[in-house]
Amino acid sequence: MNLIQRPRRLRNSESLRKMVRETRMDPASLIYPAFVAEGLTQKQEIPSMPGQYRHTTDSLLHLAEELLKAGVDKMMLFGIPSCKDELGSQAYAQNGVVQQAMRALKQRLPQLYLIGDVCMCEYTSHGHCGILKGQQVDNDATLAYLAQIAVSQVQAGADMVAPSDMMDGRVAAIRSALDAHGYADTPILSYAVKYASSFYGPFRQAADSAPAFGDRRGYQMDYHNAREGVKEALLDIEEGADIVMVKPAMAYGDVIARVKQAVNVPVAAYSVSGEYSMVKAAAMAGDIDESGIVCEMAAAAFRAGSDIYLSYFAKELAGYMQEGRIG
Ligand code: PBG
Repeated sequence: MNLIQRPRRLRNSESLRKMVRETRMDPASLIYPAFVAEGLTQKQEIPSMPGQYRHTTDSLLHLAEELLKAGVDKMMLFGIPSCKDELGSQAYAQNGVVQQAMRALKQRLPQLYLIGDVCMCEYTSHGHCGILKGQQVDNDATLAYLAQIAVSQVQAGADMVAPSDMMDGRVAAIRSALDAHGYADTPILSYAVKYASSFYGPFRQAADSAPAFGDRRGYQMDYHNAREGVKEALLDIEEGADIVMVKPAMAYGDVIARVKQAVNVPVAAYSVSGEYSMVKAAAMAGDIDESGIVCEMAAAAFRAGSDIYLSYFAKELAGYMQEGRIG
């Protein structure tokens, strides 16, 4: 047959396929999210997330060592306090569970890049991401608390802070508080484009942070909207965000692509707990090939435009990248 165009020519060998690959990935762009809980004597597996744990400071140190060995040198930390209250006071306590863990990690493993998740929902008795006024989250009253959380985490050793609360104006509030405390060089990774998503279900079980009433649709985004994601990203950059994140990742490739086009800062994507749990459950049932799916999901996020990928599979992914299976 007289075919001039034969796209298959470039698929003829692994070496050729790798040469023409459009998406390149590197373990340096991976961030591993981890949970540290107060009052545990040993790490506790999260039932909805097999292979993920509520850590003690000791088991977290051990995990961090393993990650470093595997080539992942960045960790995002979530705290689960034993006491929650209306004002989420353990979120900004000098000796809060996250602050203690950060101090220990920084002291033992200074080469680990530590990112603090800045939010209130793991710390409030009502499970909402801010301070309540009646049944509503009071946006403006919450800002000072978020700024205080960020400062306390940086004082404890965080290299970067990542607000995930979705209050308006929080990036500016955090930026000015960090600057006022002498942390002008500490970057902010903003969860700028965070949707109200059922994909967070397993995380809320892990962190015991489901809202006691109502839901988060009054502050997290409506998943019917993509243009609004661009608006949120641009606003956060104006307020001083150094990196913007889209969350979840898997079902939001279009949003990642649109945000990437609109901004001139690095874009991160967070493959959230529900994505992890679905893959694990289907793999454990023997229905899918776990490593194949994990590679494909990561490549899709990077292909869509993400520069940075947060995943509970980050350790495995670093291995797949180093083996040359992806990237
Ligand atoms: C805190 C926060 C959540 C996640 C990251 N930060 C939960 C939520 O917004 O309900 C979700 C992470 C995941 O599902 O893996 N606000």
